[in-house]
Amino acid sequence: MSSHSSTSASRDSGEGAHAGDEALREEIARGLSASPPSLPPKLFYDDAGALLFEEITRLPEYYPTRTEIRILETHLPQMARRIGPGVRVVEFGSGSGEKTERLLRVLDEPAAYIPVDIAEKQLRRVASSLDREFPELRIAPLAADYTRPFRLPPTDDPPESGTPPRRSLLFFPGSTIGNFEPDAAREFLRGAGESLGPGAILLIGIDLVKPREVLEPAYDDARGVTAAFNRNALVHLNRLLGTDFRPEAFRHRAPWNDDASRIEMHLVATEAQVVTLPGPPDETGHAGARPRLRLALEEGDHIVTEHSYKYTLEAFRELTASAGWITRETWTDPSEWFAVRFLEWNGSRH
Ligand code: AVI
Repeated sequence: MSSHSSTSASRDSGEGAHAGDEALREEIARGLSASPPSLPPKLFYDDAGALLFEEITRLPEYYPTRTEIRILETHLPQMARRIGPGVRVVEFGSGSGEKTERLLRVLDEPAAYIPVDIAEKQLRRVASSLDREFPELRIAPLAADYTRPFRLPPTDDPPESGTPPRRSLLFFPGSTIGNFEPDAAREFLRGAGESLGPGAILLIGIDLVKPREVLEPAYDDARGVTAAFNRNALVHLNRLLGTDFRPEAFRHRAPWNDDASRIEMHLVATEAQVVTLPGPPDETGHAGARPRLRLALEEGDHIVTEHSYKYTLEAFRELTASAGWITRETWTDPSEWFAVRFLEWNGSRH
């Protein structure tokens, strides 16, 4: 397996603040200063959070994963025919790799697989298990925060002379696109098309609008796994930047916001409290004397930790069209709870 260097966004050594964390400190300070205060959902995914998320995907209430897998199991051969031979597969937020394995098994001689994920340990584990399963395939894992600009590794897999240039396939399952604000989703998809280049293909999972009675339990399960996942973002942030959040002083809440068509993950303060975000470390590595931010919360105030947008098929078609992608084919489950869509890049027109 070839290896590539990590970006600073993936570093999570647990040794306190680093100079490279300053972009993150500013992002966190901006979010916590907003009204209501917010934290970026990427904080969920340290190694413990990645395991909690895997547990969520197996919960009876959390329908997206099993529904998407059923769609893939039913239609993958057809999807593979659509995709064609020799593609370079890029996957953002590759997670446990369960769906990837299914895709790689049916694709016609894929040229390379580039999983990109912020949870580095899981990324390496999954990449080496895929390496054992697909010894012929070039696997080039990239530990990066794909919500920030980063460079894909160069292609050292040129096609044979006389054949057309390789197409890149972005595999983006799991409805992760729903965790972007719609404007950011548009920019992100446009940027992905631009960096994957001419002939790019997108195979994407989309969680569809459905009754509140199904949505809310999926994000507030009886066993409290999602609550633990939500609070873990605070543990992670304390370790990264030295904040003094007390996770036990927050409770989990996940209401469906019908007007905005999204689930909102909140952490609600169970008592009045003040939380401090330290300033950048000085040359000796100690926290600066002046805090970067003090956040005062009353009992009942909440911090938004994630939005999970749900789309109609038409709304998603409009979103992707405005980002330069043409919808070619859509597969859904019988209840239309989830969809997997095949799109082609047409960015030159936009
Ligand atoms: C990763 N993402 C698509 C999940 C979702 O459903 O929005 C994250 C999640 N948050 C709470 N449960 C799962």
